[in-house]
Amino acid sequence: MTEQPIAPMLSVVVPCYNERPNVAPMIAKLDAALAGIAWEVIYVDDNSPDGTAAEVRRIAQTDPRVRCIRRVGRRGLASAVIEGALSSSAAYVACIDGDLQHDETRLPIMLEALHSGEYDLAVASRHVEGGDNAGLAGRWRHFLSDGGIKLSQMFLPVKLTDPMSGFFMLPRALFEELAGGLNGQGFKILLDLVLSSPAPLRVKEVPATFRERVAGESKLDMLVMLQFGGLLLDKICGGLLPLRFISFALVGSLGVLVHLAVLTALRKTTGMDFEIEQAIGTVFAMIFNFKLNNSITYRDQRMRGPRLWRGLVLFVVVCGVGAVANVGIANALYQTHTGWTTAGAIGAIIGVVWNYAVSATLVWRAR
Ligand code: GDD
Ligand code: MN
Repeated sequence: MTEQPIAPMLSVVVPCYNERPNVAPMIAKLDAALAGIAWEVIYVDDNSPDGTAAEVRRIAQTDPRVRCIRRVGRRGLASAVIEGALSSSAAYVACIDGDLQHDETRLPIMLEALHSGEYDLAVASRHVEGGDNAGLAGRWRHFLSDGGIKLSQMFLPVKLTDPMSGFFMLPRALFEELAGGLNGQGFKILLDLVLSSPAPLRVKEVPATFRERVAGESKLDMLVMLQFGGLLLDKICGGLLPLRFISFALVGSLGVLVHLAVLTALRKTTGMDFEIEQAIGTVFAMIFNFKLNNSITYRDQRMRGPRLWRGLVLFVVVCGVGAVANVGIANALYQTHTGWTTAGAIGAIIGVVWNYAVSATLVWRAR
């Protein structure tokens, strides 16, 4: 221990989930690309079952530039990036995928652009001269990616040819400034940053190619797409309604459809009392809502195993109380000569707000 360690100037944040085979090659590539720069890499792993975190720590034993944050009970690319970046003390933070799809040789170019002081944000873009998106798997992904770009460009305060890029760099101080306003859900942290900034950011776009994934598989699925829609909605509404509430309410309206479908089927096929059929429909809708909320609204805190069952029971109790309140209040209003639509709507709104507020604290309580 004679040599003075040098504080890193650049923290490279790598969100990762099941990327074990990519860890060692990625660090070797960073080492080559960032020669002459004091850097560190911060892996943020969501407790990957394939042992990604253990692999990072193994390398960290002999390389102090390598760090690992292992999160348990949570999932999400954007929130992983936020936590990684906030754990940095370097002058600049970069975010890059851990599957070797991003071209790490762009990092010094991005750093130079920021260092000049002329820019607040450097983004690797697949859609400027010299960039390439060939690695995106399949026509469907290209279609979605291009559509997402068009959609988000409508709301962007700055010109970004690749707002969906997951590869960018900015001064850590700026990240810390913006961190409080970030939504943190889903995949699109860059978009979130740009939309959260009170003043338009000065953006430098660096052409980059998107390589094909060699090992492991992509985690982008239908739910991630939904979250992307939610992020835009949240930003458009100026954060007025919590995103979770919107999701919860949408799930609830689907639940109404399930309820009606079950009721119709029972009416047509059985000769049971209406109250019994109604009760069965309600139970089906509650289970459906619970499942959907657990996988979409509370994706980042999804319950599994025994906790799932306890959660379901609690959810049914909470929503049962919500339903009683809903019907009771609507009834009382109706008795006092409020129109039936108004009475019904007020009852329903009170019901959904109750269900949301109480299930957020009791069922999916933040740990
Ligand atoms: N910690 C954590 N938690 N990391 C995650 C999670 C998660 O829930 N989901 C994905 N990751 C990590 C992956 O391990 C990978 O390192 C990186 O985030 C990107 O995930 P991929 O699943 O490989 O994404 P992709 O290749 O489909 O999407 C890429 O293209 C998009 C543009 O089309 C990414 O680069 C995106 O960032 C980019 O926006
Ligand atoms: Mn990828």
